[in-house]
Amino acid sequence: MNITKNDLKGKKVLVRVDFNVPIEDEIVQDTARIRNVNSTIKYLQDAGAKIILMSHLGKTTLPNHKQSLKLVAEKAEEEFHSKIVFIDDCIAENAKSIIDSTDYNEIILLENLRFHTEEENCDEGFAKKLASLADFYINEAFSVSHRKHASIFSVPKFLPHALGFSFKKEIQVVDNFFQNAASPKMCIIGGSKLATKVKLLKNLVKRVDKLALGGGIAGAFLAFLGNGALKIFDPKEYRDDVIEIIKNSKEHNCELIMPTDFSALISDNDTFEHTIISSEGSNASIFDIGPESVELFKKHINESKVVLWNGPVGLFERAPFDFGTRVLGEHIAQRTRENHLTSIIGGGDTGFAMKKFKVCHDMSYISTAGGAFLSYLEGSELAGLTAMQDAYTLV
Ligand code: 3PG
Repeated sequence: MNITKNDLKGKKVLVRVDFNVPIEDEIVQDTARIRNVNSTIKYLQDAGAKIILMSHLGKTTLPNHKQSLKLVAEKAEEEFHSKIVFIDDCIAENAKSIIDSTDYNEIILLENLRFHTEEENCDEGFAKKLASLADFYINEAFSVSHRKHASIFSVPKFLPHALGFSFKKEIQVVDNFFQNAASPKMCIIGGSKLATKVKLLKNLVKRVDKLALGGGIAGAFLAFLGNGALKIFDPKEYRDDVIEIIKNSKEHNCELIMPTDFSALISDNDTFEHTIISSEGSNASIFDIGPESVELFKKHINESKVVLWNGPVGLFERAPFDFGTRVLGEHIAQRTRENHLTSIIGGGDTGFAMKKFKVCHDMSYISTAGGAFLSYLEGSELAGLTAMQDAYTLV
């Protein structure tokens, strides 16, 4: 079922976006999530629709200046080359009349949805009020679509709905990686906590050719493999999961690539000394993979046609523990630039790290999502997708 520009001419379209952007001293620090919705905005403008944007910013709270989407309005005006008309309460009594009096070449932005607890509680009454503002609903907020919130899950019950172009692209990239991408396919999975990646690793080990582990996750695996003296998170409750992942890697011919050395701090009473230890090292707190491991990972990257990376391999915010993430980022960027590789970067921390190391422009794709990217990658249901089962396609 398609929706054409003709169907949208003169209609009001409520677009759920994710303008949950980093803000410091009232200034937006990164506009990627605003830029990301540009193609859908352009499409709706070409169609002659009236655009109403709604988003959250930060966690649910009482209305406050620091979390007001008004802070994002200026950047949105720059990105969309349109005047933004701001409504200071997303379900304000006068919202309809403001929307009616707004010009078609202006864009309406509603105040932070999470100033109402009903958003997070997925309240249908609240969703109905939002839906009453428009004729159509578009979800262009993949990065928050793992949340079963009113604007994601309930609003589409009350309006004809469609997925936005960037939402579609996000899921296509992951679907393509699993279904169509050329082998060998490699995943690099980092991050500090094994708990957050167990489900993901269980899924990946059956679907990729190479799985390289970094960060605290690698330390935890090594501990289970018998190198138990490393000071790392050692959540005993995941022991069976780790054993299952290792067993499945063998059954599914997935090469499990573990770091052979780490960058660590060794404590001597009150002092800490930075050192490189082997993966069998003891009594050290590890904060990054070591140079030998970086070379090992690079060798496997060179053998791969596509690399998907989720989770920094070390504490990239702090030198010298940025080494692994930086060198791997630079290497993947270079291989991509030279057309040897397709590179997919899961958003969140990995995306921040690539930005910090100035390698974003060379990567094939960088997701704007953190938690939602992880959920989709691990095969979990996304509330935003479940709600869109009867979605129209924008053509
Ligand atoms: C994000 O930044 O990952 C999304 O905007 C979701 O935000 P949340 O974790 O506060 O729901």
